[in-house]
Amino acid sequence: ELISASKEYDVIIVGAGIAGMSAALLLDFRLKVAIVSKEPLAECSTYKAQGGMAVAVGPDDKIEEHIADTLRVGQGICREEAVKVLTSEGSEALDFLISLGASFSHNEKGLLLTREAGHSRNRVVHYYDYTGKYIAELLASKVNAATNIDRLESCYLVDIATDQEGCCGCVVVLAGKLVYYRSAVVVVATGGYSGLYARSTNAISSNGDGVAAAYRAGAVIADMEFVQFHPTAFTTKSGRVFLLTEALRGEGAMLLNAAGQRFMSTYHSAGELAPRDEVSRAMLQEAGKQGGKPIGLDARHLGKEYLMDRFRQVYAELAQNNYFMEQDIIPIAPAAHYTIGGIKTDLWGKTNVACLYACGEAAATGVHGANRLASNSLLEGIVFGRRVAASINDNFPAKRINSVQLACSMEDIGNYNGVSALRTKLELAAGVVRQGKGLEAALQWVRDSKKSSVIPPDDMQSYHACNAYQLAELLLEAALLRRESRGCHYRIDFPEKNDQDFQKHILQQWGRETV
Ligand code: SIN
Repeated sequence: ELISASKEYDVIIVGAGIAGMSAALLLDFRLKVAIVSKEPLAECSTYKAQGGMAVAVGPDDKIEEHIADTLRVGQGICREEAVKVLTSEGSEALDFLISLGASFSHNEKGLLLTREAGHSRNRVVHYYDYTGKYIAELLASKVNAATNIDRLESCYLVDIATDQEGCCGCVVVLAGKLVYYRSAVVVVATGGYSGLYARSTNAISSNGDGVAAAYRAGAVIADMEFVQFHPTAFTTKSGRVFLLTEALRGEGAMLLNAAGQRFMSTYHSAGELAPRDEVSRAMLQEAGKQGGKPIGLDARHLGKEYLMDRFRQVYAELAQNNYFMEQDIIPIAPAAHYTIGGIKTDLWGKTNVACLYACGEAAATGVHGANRLASNSLLEGIVFGRRVAASINDNFPAKRINSVQLACSMEDIGNYNGVSALRTKLELAAGVVRQGKGLEAALQWVRDSKKSSVIPPDDMQSYHACNAYQLAELLLEAALLRRESRGCHYRIDFPEKNDQDFQKHILQQWGRETV
């Protein structure tokens, strides 16, 4: 049974990561805002981000160079206007955080900037190795203090509601009840869908609910096939996957094979600092040559004192697992980390559905092309979160007085199997290396699974599973359609880039053939 909430909002933001919270803080304070979130702050990908935020603020840096690096790593399909916006508004994004009280790692000369893969110079502003946690806690403290912003926590997005004029609120599960919250505008900032993979640096809850709900509401979805794998993820004793930041390699850590030899320079001229897709594939190939033995990350030469200070979070996590970076080589393997696909938006976060916006990892602005440049994502969250707020402030829709028919797609919620089998399927079929046959078989399996019914429809898990299966289907379809290899989408049956047919984006829309 669907209950209508007595409270209405001007703007509902779904997702409490960097993009959603930045947008909320920059909306006109006269607007009544709600931030919907399903998990505690520590589960969100912003909180887990380690490396930092790429901004061209170093004395020897230029926005043009940040643009060139982003375009090169994006492999020919970045949207150039979006990249210009992202990079040229970087220093304003940084000033926004500083105005809220952030003080990033620095010395007497100024900000300390680190290097990450794909960057031609040191450009990453950071707070030790837990930049995301630092920023997330800062933004959350400001959001909690804002009198115009309500937090709806432990609140699960089921669907985005639409009427004849566009988006008109959302349906959530709150305290076990299905509730419709009316609002003039909805912003989807729910993050990505890496949690759909068995091995991911993200929480399982990062399964792209907002993208799936926006798709059912008629939004165009883009670039779903592009899933970025982070090369250096460590599996803890309890089986959790923990990121070892790329900044470690930026500061000199090396990748070693089982014979204790560096190998990256035989795969790429940039060695350990090659783009992530290249490093992940090289690691798999090298591990294959040594019978599957893991690749190691060697930071021993950086010294205990430095490692314990600069990489304090990583050091502590590894120490709890009986690995000590000053003496041990750390076994690592790639893990799904960031999803480039999502809800297609313009440069102001607007989707094709009136009054529905998207920003952050949930959005597909085109800034990342076929592969995201390291540390461009925290930047993206703030730059496009700010733009969404500015657009809503300038174009707040006139109040819709007549109550109109709700046309949300609740009936599309199916009864699907649980998600754990799905996560393993995706890992095998749509991982670092893909092949048409495997993608086809996985797609068929997903479609068949959707017909079976094992979970009661009003169970929370069935909403979660519904979203997961829907996105997996979109991802697999898009991966099959892209019959080439580009950036983080690599197919052994089509190992070359094909600019003639595929220098374009794959778009998907509910009820339509792929557009
Ligand atoms: C990392 O710290 O390696 C992650 C940075 C990113 O994903 O941008």
